Amino acid sequence: MKKRSATDVLPAEGGLGNEPLLTVDNLHVEFHTRAGIVRAVNGVSYSLSAGETLAVLGESGSGKSVTAQAIMGILDMPPAVIPKGEIRFHGTNLLTLSEEGRTQVRGERIAMIFQDALSALNPVFTVGWQISEMFRVHRGMSKRDGMKKAVELMDKVRIPAARQRVNDYPHQFSGGMRQRIMIAMSIALDPEVLIADEPTTALDVTVQAQIMELLAELQRESNMGLILITHDLGVVADVADKISVMYAGRIVENAPVHDIYKAPAHPYSKGLLDSIPRVDHKGQELYAIKGLPPNLLDMPTGCAFHPRCPYRQDNCVTDVPPLYEISGVRSSACHYWREVLDGSRG
Ligand SMILES: Nc1ncnc2c1ncn2[C@@H]1O[C@H](COP(=O)(O)OP(=O)(O)OP(=O)(O)O)[C@@H](O)[C@H]1O
Ligand SMILES: [Mg+2]
Repeated sequence: MKKRSATDVLPAEGGLGNEPLLTVDNLHVEFHTRAGIVRAVNGVSYSLSAGETLAVLGESGSGKSVTAQAIMGILDMPPAVIPKGEIRFHGTNLLTLSEEGRTQVRGERIAMIFQDALSALNPVFTVGWQISEMFRVHRGMSKRDGMKKAVELMDKVRIPAARQRVNDYPHQFSGGMRQRIMIAMSIALDPEVLIADEPTTALDVTVQAQIMELLAELQRESNMGLILITHDLGVVADVADKISVMYAGRIVENAPVHDIYKAPAHPYSKGLLDSIPRVDHKGQELYAIKGLPPNLLDMPTGCAFHPRCPYRQDNCVTDVPPLYEISGVRSSACHYWREVLDGSRG
């Protein structure tokens, strides 16, 4: 089959029809390693519309980043293999696009911010040079015009005295400011989708809030779709529209953000919520989900969460729960989602 390039097949911005901007559909990703097959992503589905913020939540190792890397097309294949699933952008499956087509999407139309700004920036080039490179490489701009754009972007992400600081090196900035520089680079080409993979994990709490606010503001201005990956429910409460909770490479709950805070419909989501420190519960012991995440080389039978689940019944050990539809916008992969919603502990 002749692979198609992005310009052949992707409609211009806005030409959406009824298809959401981005749809991940039953995605499977495995890593073929010496120790065996690591099933990192086992049937993930989520979708994102323009102007919408989706928070993807889950413990370390649940497959959040691997899913994002598959969307970006930056997985090393091998060892990664994608045996099943689609990632549709404007209705076109990115997984069958040519490398040339993907290059046109990557960075330009779907951009990503990584967790660790210090290692993502090159220490031997000034930040202005690194931001302006986006314009030189992708837009064929001159050095001078590129630097002008870099100053504009540094202003936009609120780096004080941008004009003076454009010639500074990454190590001369604080962690929060470096993350702002990464954000500037990621939005340089006006992407339609921005994936922020734990953009605030390395930062202190006040700076985390500022970075979240900045992302939310940039998104409102440009109507981007934003995917916020985090393991911290507290960070996304104010900015996300909807949440997908991941466990062991699967989505266990999809919900509008207000619904899930009010009443989670999966025991794992409930555990995550119960483990957020709250000022009104001062003095009480913090709840922690018991046990450890499963070994992806040797997954539990039935529901992967069953060894840790306070709602467990016999069939949880044998039957993999499908994603039960609770409403048009809400679903849970728990046989006992009704009990969880009611708040009665099984
Ligand atoms: N190249 C690889 N080879 C083998 N296993 C891998 C590879 N990359 C990722 N994995 C495994 O895939 C699983 C999912 O990883 P992923 O990075 O998506 O987790 P995550 O949810 O982003 O976690 P974190 O919160 O720690 O970033 C992990 O068990 C990880 O060890
Ligand atoms: Mg990750």
